[in-house]
Amino acid sequence: MTSNASRFSLSRIAGTGSVLPPRRLTNADLVQQLAERGLETSDEWIVERTGIKARHFADPGVNSSDLAAQAARQAMEAAGVQPAQIDLVIVATSTPDMVFPSVACMVQRKLGIPGGAAFDVQAVCSGFVYGLTIADAMIRCGSASRALVIGAEVFSRILDFNDRTTCVLFGDGAGAVVLEASDKPGIVASELHADGRYADILCTPGTVSGGQVIGDPVLKMDGQAVFKLAVSVLAEVAHSVLAKAGRTEADIDWLIPHQANIRIMQSTARKLKLPADKVIVTVDQQGNTSAASIPLALDAGVRDGRIKRGDTLMLEGVGGGFTWGAVLLDF
Ligand code: UT7
Repeated sequence: MTSNASRFSLSRIAGTGSVLPPRRLTNADLVQQLAERGLETSDEWIVERTGIKARHFADPGVNSSDLAAQAARQAMEAAGVQPAQIDLVIVATSTPDMVFPSVACMVQRKLGIPGGAAFDVQAVCSGFVYGLTIADAMIRCGSASRALVIGAEVFSRILDFNDRTTCVLFGDGAGAVVLEASDKPGIVASELHADGRYADILCTPGTVSGGQVIGDPVLKMDGQAVFKLAVSVLAEVAHSVLAKAGRTEADIDWLIPHQANIRIMQSTARKLKLPADKVIVTVDQQGNTSAASIPLALDAGVRDGRIKRGDTLMLEGVGGGFTWGAVLLDF
């Protein structure tokens, strides 16, 4: 890591980007594919319980680093930044291309970023909020001046297509931001949490050892347990971050939650006294893309013109670990 003591003490988002793999599966497509395996599900069940109507799956050979690099290119273009100006790459992912090196190092190579630090963050669906908080801290203390923070996943690779309770929920994609040192307000406050006692309720227990995959390398989830924890911790952490920032619910222009389930998002919005049209929702068309879902939703809101410079955004994530966190920022 280079030590670029910065004359600024704040960090702000200078540009956003995102990508979805072109292969789109509607619920009807998935229902048909699962029926061929003898599994029964329906568009009605999926929409009613989750709000999901479609998701994107990467083709074989397309990895997290490919999606991450595409999203990052867009974010750099939006920020007007060249690869040589980036001195930190953080990729939040639970579906890396390989055991090592990190996806972040591969992104660095793919984009021709000449130096600085690069590493992955593993906090599952909270990964982007974790990555953004780490990058903000590194910029504030002068360890970096311009970071790429990326959430990138190919969750389709770790799904069990014989388990209808999980395989209908997830999708692939990537989202990115350029976070840079600034004298203007950007990230106002953030908070991260984890409680390892709940490690078993959402996990992919397989690992590589002795040249073999040991354990089951597909996603397992106790949906109801995750749901209950998610609705309680998300509202709590959002309120805590608001208090830290000396702001109130009325100051939030947009809620950008992790996109796991429309019912969880609606519950959090209600607890924050926000109307439904203040929540950026992409879960209907993208499913749950884990660490990629928040930056994908952020970029969607920016590109369609809903999110404007100066708006106050509450980003919040929850996921395996159990992990959760929130970031309040002035865009
Ligand atoms: O990204 C990390 C965070 N993840 C989350 O936040 C996910 C949190 N959990 C959830 O979103 C919800 O718990 C689910 C969407 C996963 C499940 O919804 P639910 O309302 O909690 O359903 P359930 O697990 O209680 O299952 C209800 C019924 C069961 O049948 P019985 O036992 O009532 O006969 C399931 O077997 O629905 C059945 N079921 C399905 N039926 C049709 C489960 N999956 C399916 C399916 N199609 N795909």
